[in-house]
Amino acid sequence: EKGQYRHFMLKEIHEQPDVIRATLEGRVTESRVLERALGTEASELLGDIRHVQIVACGTSFHAGMVARYWIEELAGISCSVEVASEFRYRKHVIQDGTLFLTISQSGETADTLAALRQARDAGFRAALAICNVPGSSLVRESDLVIMTHAGPEIGVASTKAFTTQLTALFMFTLALARHNGLPETREAELVAALHQIPHQMEQILGLNAQIEALSEAFVDKHHSLFLGRGSLYPIAMEGALKLKEISYIHAEAYPAGELKHGPLALVDSEMPVVTVAPSNDLLEKLKSNLQEVRARGGELFVFADDETAMTDSEGTHVMTIPHTDPILAPMLCTLPLQLLSYHVAVLKGTDVDQPRNLAKSVTVE
Ligand code: F6R
Repeated sequence: EKGQYRHFMLKEIHEQPDVIRATLEGRVTESRVLERALGTEASELLGDIRHVQIVACGTSFHAGMVARYWIEELAGISCSVEVASEFRYRKHVIQDGTLFLTISQSGETADTLAALRQARDAGFRAALAICNVPGSSLVRESDLVIMTHAGPEIGVASTKAFTTQLTALFMFTLALARHNGLPETREAELVAALHQIPHQMEQILGLNAQIEALSEAFVDKHHSLFLGRGSLYPIAMEGALKLKEISYIHAEAYPAGELKHGPLALVDSEMPVVTVAPSNDLLEKLKSNLQEVRARGGELFVFADDETAMTDSEGTHVMTIPHTDPILAPMLCTLPLQLLSYHVAVLKGTDVDQPRNLAKSVTVE
């Protein structure tokens, strides 16, 4: 079943271009999202939404964090994101017209389901689920569903589920944005960029051998730092989560601007620092954060896009990935981090597909 691949995780990383195409199939034309493909009641609902509350766990929570940037930027609708295990145990102030959005690969995560069940009686406008398993509890209990077409995900560390969640969230955001003044021309531009993503992912997968070579620098380390800014901060979090869960190396993610507020004290030559640096309006700020790391002897691993003109220098390893519209950069920047953690884990000899202490579907609290 793993075919040519040594682990399910590697196979699933390589499936991403295809499953993203599958998730787009029948839902977007060359230039726009087909609203009716999001459900028959979608059109009526989308015009009513004044706020979006996203609830999820783990990797799915990171997808939700990216979506918050998208929803606020493109649709101009306020959005909050919270982990389900926190959301369900506190009191909420619910604005009128709030959409409750859950994200889950399995559709059976206990905390996410419990949050949805609470939300049902709490006065939300409607419940939308983004989910990968047809017929799961989350799908059955939501008003509206956008299925991700990632296919079964066997590796415990989530990879293709995450990028298909981002794909579904992006389509949803565009549909919502259209009801809130996003110009048709901008939608067409973004949809064109979205259609390029699978091919660009294939180019990134071609860097596999080079990323494997980089991974050697992590094998004997005990700690690492992942930095990102804006919508790439959740991608840094996701990269850190992947490294923790399969290689058992302590990895912490920080918004790059927070570095000087504490974590910089940790940086030395034993603490590799990983960052994703697409060319966007935060690039110059990120670069100066990276200087701060270099000045303390930290070794840098930078995944930059080909418009940044960043190159290798002493203590700085730069790997170039294709450029996309800055808003879609989270989709591409995820892949090199998945490959990095995979290769570190393989070199360490851990059980990549079944990491210790973890279960694929967390159906208990
Ligand atoms: C990380 C991972 C977990 C899940 C989390 C939520 O690689 O797999 O963090 O993302 O348990 O699971 P779902 O998406 O099934 O609700």
